Amino acid sequence: MITVRVPAKVNVQLGVGGLRTDGFHELANVFFAVALGDEVTATPGDGVTLTCSGPDAHAVPLDDSNLVARAARLLAAHHGIADPGVHLHIAKAIPVAGGMAGGSADGAAALVACDALWQLDTPLDTLLELAAELGSDVPFALLGGVALGRGRGEILQPLTVDGTFHWVFAVADGGLSTPAVFRECDRLREEAGTGSSDTDVPVPEADPALLAALAGGDAAALAAALANDLQPAAVSLRPGLADTLKAGTEAGAIGALVSGSGPTCAFLVKDADAAAAVAEALRASGTCRTAHATYGPVPGAAPVA
Ligand code: C5P
Repeated sequence: MITVRVPAKVNVQLGVGGLRTDGFHELANVFFAVALGDEVTATPGDGVTLTCSGPDAHAVPLDDSNLVARAARLLAAHHGIADPGVHLHIAKAIPVAGGMAGGSADGAAALVACDALWQLDTPLDTLLELAAELGSDVPFALLGGVALGRGRGEILQPLTVDGTFHWVFAVADGGLSTPAVFRECDRLREEAGTGSSDTDVPVPEADPALLAALAGGDAAALAAALANDLQPAAVSLRPGLADTLKAGTEAGAIGALVSGSGPTCAFLVKDADAAAAVAEALRASGTCRTAHATYGPVPGAAPVA
C-alpha cells in the first residue's frame, strides 16, 4: 500500500493571454503550492477502481473520467501494462472545482502512487510529460514549491522563494467550471472591444516585482503584486465573490484574490495568528461555506513516510 500526499495550488499571478487555435490560452502562471492537500492511496486491485472520502466526496466522479483513473491507465499504457490492477482511494480536502487544482493534484498523486506500487521507477521527466497529457495543472502538482508555468501552464520553471507565506482559503458553495470561466474572460474582452484571440492579446509575462517579493520572502510586496486575469470573469459568473474578498480584507488580510478560475478566494496574511483570525472572521461572515488557514510553499506529490 502506498499513500501519496499532494498539495493544492494558488496562482499568485495568473496572466491570461489570447485564445489559441487549440482552445487553450497562453499563460504566465505563477503556481504556489500550499499545505492544504489531498492523499491518494494505491492498493493492489482488480482493474482500476476508485473510492473517495471527505466533505465534498459526493461531488467527485468515480468513473474513468476522474484524472486519478486516467493517470493510472496512462502510466500503465506507457509501460505496456495491458491490464493494470489498482484500487485508488482519494482522501479529499482540496475544494472540488474550486480553482485550487484539486483534481489535477489527485492525478499527479495517482501517477506517483501507481509508479511506486508497480515498482516502475519512471524518471521525473517522463512523469512530467505524462502529467502534461492529463491536464495543464498536473505537472505543477508533481513539482510543488513555486514555479512559473508558461504555454498553457505545463512548461514549468521552478522559482526561488525565501521562507513561508501564510494563507487563508475561503471555500464557496459549489464549484465553477474552468472552461466556463475562460470563456467568460474571452466574452468580457470582446465586450470591452479589446478582442480575445492570441493575435489580439499580448503574451503575458511574469511580473518582476512579484518574483522579487517571492525571492525576498516579502509578504507585503507579494500582497501588492497578487494578480489574476481570470478574477473579473469568476466574479462576473459569481458576483457574491466580491463580498467574500471584501470580508477577508476587512478581517485583516494583506492581499486577496480569486484562486485560479475560482470560486475559492485566497487571502495572504502576515503570520499564522493572522491566518487563524481571518479564517474565523470569514467563517462568521456568511460569505463562504468555510475557510481554511494554511501556509506554503510545500513540496509536490510524494509518498507519505
Ligand atoms: O488542461 P485542463 O484540462 O486543466 O484545462 C481545462 C480547460 O480549461 C481547457 O479545456 C480550456 O477550456 C481551459 N484552459 C484554457 N487555457 C489554459 C488552460 C486551461 O483555456 N491555459
